[in-house]
Amino acid sequence: MEQKIITGYVELGVWLKENGCQKTLLVCDDSIRYMDSFRQYLKEEAGAGIVPFSGFRPNPEYESVVRGVEQFRKEGCDSIIAVGGGSAMDVAKCVKAYACMAGNGDNGDYLKQEIIPNAIPFLAMPTTAGTGSEATRYAVIYFDGKKQSVTSESFLPKTVLMNPDALKTLPMYQRKATMIDALCHAIESYWSVNSTDESKAYSREAIQGVLIHMDGYLQNTREGNTGMLLAAHTAGKAINITQTTAGHAMCYKITSLFGCAHGHAAILCDRVLFPWMIEHTDRCIDARGQGYLSHTLDEIGRAMGCANAKEGAEKLQSIFLSLRLKVPEATDEQYHVLRTSVNPVRLKNHPMALDDAAIDELYHAILR
Ligand SMILES: [Fe+2]
Repeated sequence: MEQKIITGYVELGVWLKENGCQKTLLVCDDSIRYMDSFRQYLKEEAGAGIVPFSGFRPNPEYESVVRGVEQFRKEGCDSIIAVGGGSAMDVAKCVKAYACMAGNGDNGDYLKQEIIPNAIPFLAMPTTAGTGSEATRYAVIYFDGKKQSVTSESFLPKTVLMNPDALKTLPMYQRKATMIDALCHAIESYWSVNSTDESKAYSREAIQGVLIHMDGYLQNTREGNTGMLLAAHTAGKAINITQTTAGHAMCYKITSLFGCAHGHAAILCDRVLFPWMIEHTDRCIDARGQGYLSHTLDEIGRAMGCANAKEGAEKLQSIFLSLRLKVPEATDEQYHVLRTSVNPVRLKNHPMALDDAAIDELYHAILR
């Protein structure tokens, strides 16, 4: 499905009218507090037709989604706008899917039902340039402390509002971390066993977009923010086809153990994985073969403006160093926890076999 990209609030008004929106559930995280012009526009244009819903935390819980569904039904909402980072998108996607399901969702009931696509108008406005969640059919929520990956084609909003002003107040650490999350999505998608010509074209475009706009984005220019939003969205389109790989499989526990932002943890892993992969293509499990994989790694290097894979890997490391992000120090006990908690689903998308010894070796190079 081709998503329509709009950039201004006037077009948002057109969207509200075209879709006959009488009452819209506005699923939003804290970022909305800083978006004066957006709130002003909604107030003047949509008036009483907006029902804000923000009762969720990062890594949103199933119960939060159930509360969102309750509010959607109680207020008689007919449409959904998601404003925020990945968590707001995840909640909004699930509210949309569950709003038309039977029952009230007690005891995880919505998770057990098949998602039947519905026609609830759904618009997403990312306020970070990183997750690309507005371009994927995936959502992650937590039930009883366990991660639930929910997938539906109907999660893709038909319209995405990309307004660079939404990024103006992003704190620097979050700004860096979300940008490199997008870069890691594009790189991992490129080498994924699920890659296609289409996904690789998205990856190339996203890698180039991140690199072109990095300086302007880090300096918070309007052009830089616009370019990075689009690059992160394009990287989202790539992982929508391929999903992520070992870098993401290995980074989740780094986030929870050391409190690093997700993108920070992802580049910690990918800056080590990339050169390691170049040296170990004999471990290739991609059906297209070792020669294909070597060629693909070189292509990634070239997409990064380098001559080959080796230079590309060096460039990734130099980007990491230039961002001055810390490298956490791990204890033996933490290395053990990391080794035994790698996400096996993501690992299957990786083009190389990674056994326990390889994972242990990699973690010792990733951390101090
Ligand atoms: Fe990510």
